[in-house]
Amino acid sequence: MPQVAPSILAADFSRLGEEVRRVSEAGADYIHVDVMDGFFVPNITIGPSMVRSLRPYSKLPFISHLMITHPENHVKAFAEGGSDIIEVHIEAEQDLRRTLRLIHDLGKKAGLAVNPPTPVEKAFPYLGEVDMLLVMSVNPGFGGQKFIQDVLPKIGLAKAEMARLGIRIPVEIDGGITVETGELAARAGADILAAGTSVFRAPDMREAIEALRACGASKG
Ligand code: DX5
Ligand code: ZN
Repeated sequence: MPQVAPSILAADFSRLGEEVRRVSEAGADYIHVDVMDGFFVPNITIGPSMVRSLRPYSKLPFISHLMITHPENHVKAFAEGGSDIIEVHIEAEQDLRRTLRLIHDLGKKAGLAVNPPTPVEKAFPYLGEVDMLLVMSVNPGFGGQKFIQDVLPKIGLAKAEMARLGIRIPVEIDGGITVETGELAARAGADILAAGTSVFRAPDMREAIEALRACGASKG
């Protein structure tokens, strides 16, 4: 069964602390924090001081999904703010190996994110150096976009490469996840479903999380 990482991008920003507490109590497995710099992606969202402010509202691991250029300049601030897993994009301008090392030296887990147009094979040389792979199912920048189904085969390709290398790290999928698309992703092998709109805008958050967690239960 996949784990569920609600993205607070779809939460009510005027009371984000309460939203983080509410989604944690509703059964989330992680808190997914979307960080955008207005440069790597066209939108601007949350910074490390916000992560620090939100940290007391939940005991769940915080995933900071950094959609920013030169993440190496900011990973320390996010680590110190209380992020447990720091995801950086393979497309971002940086010395990726150095960034990943930096995250690990800070005692945090490192994730590697791959945008829809990027072949997943580009991530293969780094699989031994990361703790999570993030397959983007929308072009990052905004919540509430339509799921891009073409990315699904990337999950199987990555899993096959991991098996070949004798590595087992979770694959997270992010963007446009609903019960329907979550089902497709879970069947394709996704271990973690990141979902903003379908969790935070649901009439019953607990039900929405449970429905996502049940995705792929009837595999085959
Ligand atoms: C996209 C973000 C996603 C997104 C998820 O740039 O990385 O995490 O906000 O939101 P929904 O589930 O609404 O697509
Ligand atoms: Zn995200």
